[in-house]
Amino acid sequence: MTNKYMYFIANWKMFGRLNSLNSLNKVVKFSKNFKKKKFSKIIYCPPNTLLYPVIQKLKNTNIQIGAQNCHESQNFGPFTGSINSMMIKNIGAKYVILGHSENRKSGETDKLINLKIKSAINSKLKVIFCIGETLRDRKKKITRRILKKQIKLGLDKIKDKKNIIIAYEPVWSIGTGFVANNRDLSKSVAFIKKMIKNVKVLYGGSVNTKNIKELKFIKNIDGFLIGGASQNAKKFIDIIKKTYN
Ligand code: PGA
Repeated sequence: MTNKYMYFIANWKMFGRLNSLNSLNKVVKFSKNFKKKKFSKIIYCPPNTLLYPVIQKLKNTNIQIGAQNCHESQNFGPFTGSINSMMIKNIGAKYVILGHSENRKSGETDKLINLKIKSAINSKLKVIFCIGETLRDRKKKITRRILKKQIKLGLDKIKDKKNIIIAYEPVWSIGTGFVANNRDLSKSVAFIKKMIKNVKVLYGGSVNTKNIKELKFIKNIDGFLIGGASQNAKKFIDIIKKTYN
């Protein structure tokens, strides 16, 4: 585990004000001095209102920035309230989270997510593609079927998958404090890696400073997508440190 290259992605969701940027000082300092910095990639995904200020703040650091969603159209257009992948790229962000279950819940379909992924790839962004089963799926023991469907439809007609990172997030684990056991999680990760050659797979869902000691042992895991705990710089840093200890 110690020398493995790991991703740590902070998903701030709809949280954060301008003064939240102050908390990034700690993370910048940490990332500069961290012994394992060569083996870790830290990515911040703030809400759109903070994207540009965070990019400015993290200029000249090794921390990268991503958006939390984008419109499926790569062009400008009359879509009130939306931003597209080209606009995200234009301000200097490198990543975008797509297919998050919170957006699936509010109506995003696999087909729409597929269009968004294509647009993001065309704009030369890296995609953090979220997939995961609901509790109902899990109880019905159809987790694999769901993951397979989400991957097939989400990545339909996308040949080159080198800019896609999968975030496996069981929906029932997001923001709930409930986490599956490592055996089940390792099986899902293996299943995803079997479906997509050479893909990086991250785990997301209630990652915290305690359960990371266990979650870091998920077999072949390539990092973590961290929601709630990432809003607190100290906790976020602690999670990173504990991953390597
Ligand atoms: P959580 O969120 O860590 O708050 O569960 C994870 C996510 O939704 O990306």
